[in-house]
Amino acid sequence: MKIEGKEYRTIWFEKNIVKIIDQTKLPHQFIIKDLKTVKDAINAIKTMEVRGAPLIGATAAYGLVLSILENNDQSFLKKSAEDLIKSRPTAINLKWAVNRMLEKLKGVNSDKILDIAVNEAKEICDEDIKFCESIGLNGLKVIEDIYNKKKDTVNILTHCNAGWLATINWGTATSPIYHAHKNGIPVHVWADETRPRNQGANLTSYELNEEGIKNTIIADNTGGILMQRGQVDMCIVGTDRTLSNGDVCNKVGTYLKALAAYDNKIPFYVALPSSTIDWDIKDFKDIPIEERNSEELSHLEGVDNNGDIKKVLIYPKKSKSMNLAFDITPAKYVTGLITEKGICEASQEGLSKLFK
Ligand code: MRU
Repeated sequence: MKIEGKEYRTIWFEKNIVKIIDQTKLPHQFIIKDLKTVKDAINAIKTMEVRGAPLIGATAAYGLVLSILENNDQSFLKKSAEDLIKSRPTAINLKWAVNRMLEKLKGVNSDKILDIAVNEAKEICDEDIKFCESIGLNGLKVIEDIYNKKKDTVNILTHCNAGWLATINWGTATSPIYHAHKNGIPVHVWADETRPRNQGANLTSYELNEEGIKNTIIADNTGGILMQRGQVDMCIVGTDRTLSNGDVCNKVGTYLKALAAYDNKIPFYVALPSSTIDWDIKDFKDIPIEERNSEELSHLEGVDNNGDIKKVLIYPKKSKSMNLAFDITPAKYVTGLITEKGICEASQEGLSKLFK
């Protein structure tokens, strides 16, 4: 997708260096950062220079490439894989990508391992782009149906950033929106600000602006009244881990939007590539929910009049705060899962029809 008219992917490999767009600086500064070691990749995931389930999976895959470049040794590779998986706990794509790489590299001679690792990491990225494009084409039909009935702008609410910045290209939740826009359907997006890190305001709104898609940032608690007023036609969100029974783990606050949508009979869709499905965990209570530094709540970052990024404290110094990063939306509140293979019911039966 585009930034200032130029096409980018979120991650690429050039002359043995992994290149990323530093998302902690967006939307105020556009900085391309070099990752040269596996530690750099782990740090980029931990600090959320890269974030979003598919993108952290891809970064972990390239992290293993960097690990081989640094030290072409099986025990170093194993340790790198363990450290990468631990770098963020909730999105299943991280483990999925690392395991896929390890499977591919099993028993490979040290003289061939680098080429095979580079190809597989690229394949993970190329496949994600293909899958996100298919998600877009499948989700487009839902937006088209609403437009054909309404004959007016389709208002779509989304939470956090499940846009192209969270994937390699297209995004998951945003892909149907980009496809609708390309097909001439008038769309407008309500972008939940998504406290505490403001991915909705800083990233979703930013990337939609760059693609010329109308959007409005709203405080996280605004969705309910907009739904009651008939100003939301549908919701589409992403996910960090969807269980085989259709329960959806996504950025904290997703659950409350799903409840409000259910109460107002507004379709609530979740868009995901199959790499985000956890086929093992059966009970959502077993999903590891990331708890991040409370400073993400107590401090806000923005630019001052000189364009410099500044961080300020907004809470009483003595107050405690708690920063849970994800929540679970039970399947019963999800209208459908939009996947690369089609749209299905959020249930064991629905998913197993698409993914044998
Ligand atoms: O903490 P983040 O910014 O990595 O959380 C991202 C989300 O919750 C996204 O909705 C999810 O990863 C889906 S990305 C296509």
